[in-house]
Amino acid sequence: MKKAVLVSGIQPTGNLHLGNYLGALKNFVALQNSGKYECFFFVADLHSMTEEYNPKEKQKQIMNVALDYLAAGLDPKKCVIFQQSAIPAHTELMWVLNTLTPMGELERMTQFKDKSGDIQEKRMVGLFDYPVLMASDILIYDAKFVPVGHDQLQHLELARTLVRKFNAKFGNTFAEPKPLMTNVERLMSLDDPTKKMSKSRPAGCVFVDDSPEVIRKKIMSAVTDSEREVGYDKEARPAMANLLMLYSAMSGEKIDMIVNRYIGKGYADFKRDLAEVVISSLTEFQKKKKEFSKNKTLLKTILEKGNKTARKIAEKKMETVKRKLGLSK
Ligand code: ADP
Ligand code: TRP
Repeated sequence: MKKAVLVSGIQPTGNLHLGNYLGALKNFVALQNSGKYECFFFVADLHSMTEEYNPKEKQKQIMNVALDYLAAGLDPKKCVIFQQSAIPAHTELMWVLNTLTPMGELERMTQFKDKSGDIQEKRMVGLFDYPVLMASDILIYDAKFVPVGHDQLQHLELARTLVRKFNAKFGNTFAEPKPLMTNVERLMSLDDPTKKMSKSRPAGCVFVDDSPEVIRKKIMSAVTDSEREVGYDKEARPAMANLLMLYSAMSGEKIDMIVNRYIGKGYADFKRDLAEVVISSLTEFQKKKKEFSKNKTLLKTILEKGNKTARKIAEKKMETVKRKLGLSK
């Protein structure tokens, strides 16, 4: 039987932080290794044009995400790794979906409101239309599953709506994609547990490329609360709950077990150990990243091969779409 298709992507906009690592990347690897899906992972370079953009940096940023993929354990023998802009069918399908998308649906998007800040000069059509391109990325491969963090759920909902609309109007063509979330669907900032860890607020981030010294410093100065003992209470003690979630996700240990170990100890002991857990999990990743980065030809070959595979599938789907639309015979 054909395996269900799974698609996801990450924007090349800067270094990944632990939220991206735990909410997306680590999950990608686990899903790939489950052997249950036909996986496609791409570098969302077209989406990154909606953020601050420097063409001189772009190649480096694209390669950086590809390296993150490989270092985390994505394996081109088990999944297709490619670059979004190398597959014109994504933007071609976007146009078609644009004709089915009411402005009102896009105006409601939290990400658009957050990123534009309702500032007139930042309300760009590209940023506005971002979720429609995302829907195309998914639908062009007939993906059933999309691993993403909590912040992308609204966009995925739009993709599902567009599938229903297209299918109702032009006949059954696309599959409805479902999100796949990790336990760490929303890691919060270390300096403010009410805000999600995000590249747009670097002060609250630990980046996957940070050195052990920097990681120690950031974790030791993470916000906690005025209690004395380590304890888990998501509502009343969000900062502590966030650190415990991080500890658990990086070590694989259950939160209760971690809490029990710190009975009678202070926050400093807990944070010191947490820093070491984060450092040791990232050491392996950083080592592999360094090795892959020495072999630029390999990286290029992997992307070229992935692009070729993805392009073939996407073009075929686009032919079907055009037939359904009466644009071709
Ligand atoms: P950022 O908000 O830092 O710019 P992106 O939007 O590039 O992050 O997100 C890349 C992936 O990482 C997405 O799948 C997103 O859902 C996930 N992600 C981002 N921030 C977090 C977080 N704090 N916790 C969990 N997952 C996250
Ligand atoms: N919007 C996603 C993010 O910011 C990146 C992305 C673009 C994506 N296209 C996608 C994720 C398609 C999943 C599927 O993280």
